[in-house]
Formats: sequence, structure tokens, C-alpha cells
Amino acid sequence: MAIYLQIDGESIELRGTGRLLDLCLSAKIAIDHVCGGGASCGTCRVLVVKGAKNLPLRNELEQEMASDRDFSFEERLACQLEISQESDFIFEIPPSE
Ligand code: FES
Repeated sequence: MAIYLQIDGESIELRGTGRLLDLCLSAKIAIDHVCGGGASCGTCRVLVVKGAKNLPLRNELEQEMASDRDFSFEERLACQLEISQESDFIFEIPPSE
């Protein structure tokens, strides 16, 4: 099981559990998070390019934003996505809107 970030043609493996946003920040990966993880800004949006169906369902806060902004199934909020030992997916950080 592994989590990989595809960025600039490279794959970076992330390790650990907890919020995806925190894993990124711990790994010194630049990811916007304007509201500080409160699910109100959407700037931490990531695109899951492989394994989206293996991820936990959106919580209420994430679902609210996903509905408001018409997110695709593969778009997730890093601040709301909880990573477990079993997580296995590849994601990208899309350009800021
Ligand atoms: S940091 Fe604002 S929605 Fe995730």
C-alpha cells in the first residue's frame, strides 16, 4: 500500500496516516490551504489519478463543497481526506484556480 504524489514528472511517496494535507506539509510539499484545513476555501483540492474508489467517502464538510463546486469523483480536499495504513492511491495537485 502506498501513496504517491505525481509532480513535475516525478513520483514522491508519502508515508504515514492522518489528513492528506498534513502528510503533504510534513513532507515539505507546497500545497495551498488558505483556510487552514477548515473545508471552506477549496485551495487544498487534489486530483486522484489512480485509486479514487479505494478512498473513504467524503465527510459532510467535504461533500458540501464538492456539491457546491461540482467536484468530480476524483477531486478531493486534502484537509478532509483521512489516510490509513491501507491507503493506496496516486494524486496530483492541480494548478490554483
Ligand atoms: S484547506 Fe481550505 S478547504 Fe482544505
